[in-house]
Amino acid sequence: MSVRIAPSILSADLAYLGEAVARVEAGGADLIHVDVMDGHFVPNLSLGTPVVAALKRVTKLPLDVHLMIDNPDRYLEMFVRAGASMVSVHVEVLSDIGRTLSAIRRLGARAGLAVNPATPVERIDGAIELVDHVLVMSVNPGFSGQSFIPGIVEKVASAKDLLSRARSAAAIEVDGGVDMTNAAALVRAGANILVAATAIFSATDPADTTRALRQAAEKGL
Ligand code: DX5
Ligand code: ZN
Repeated sequence: MSVRIAPSILSADLAYLGEAVARVEAGGADLIHVDVMDGHFVPNLSLGTPVVAALKRVTKLPLDVHLMIDNPDRYLEMFVRAGASMVSVHVEVLSDIGRTLSAIRRLGARAGLAVNPATPVERIDGAIELVDHVLVMSVNPGFSGQSFIPGIVEKVASAKDLLSRARSAAAIEVDGGVDMTNAAALVRAGANILVAATAIFSATDPADTTRALRQAAEKGL
């Protein structure tokens, strides 16, 4: 097993986005996490397809797009065309989970199912064979810089259990308030991908911090 570190550019200085990405890339980041918000599903607006396309031009790292939007079906193709390698959609908004996940895979991207802190992870049951990664939110989506909700470590363990029982090799991604203090516990519980915005981009040296976060996370392996 290994851990992938996915810096979220939501906390980067967007005036110098290329530089921010180069820094975390130098620090050994595995993915670039892109938070897309629509002002409906979450009370905030953020980035869209033009930013994904711009990132695609400056990095070879896979772009991990997290859609916090009400009607993801309408935009899947646009995001994959723009360069998304992984697309996560929220289970809370889907009327036909299987259809959406299949559409993501058909477009050539890895399909992720995201669950809010208040949503039981059992909601992914029934769609497990179509899931490449489960995105467990450890804050209420919408903003970076929030505090990690402690009970989420147990939720990650439940997700791991659910996936193991279904003999699924899907990854578990954790997003929100992830930092040096909780990384190892999350990995011990079964997390394979850790997203971090504030912990990485608010640090003086995002490259060093990316490395340090991986080291902290690997203690949980
Ligand atoms: C929250 C986003 C997260 C966010 C994480 O709605 O999905 O990806 O950027 O930010 P931090 O790491 O600061 O909690
Ligand atoms: Zn996110």
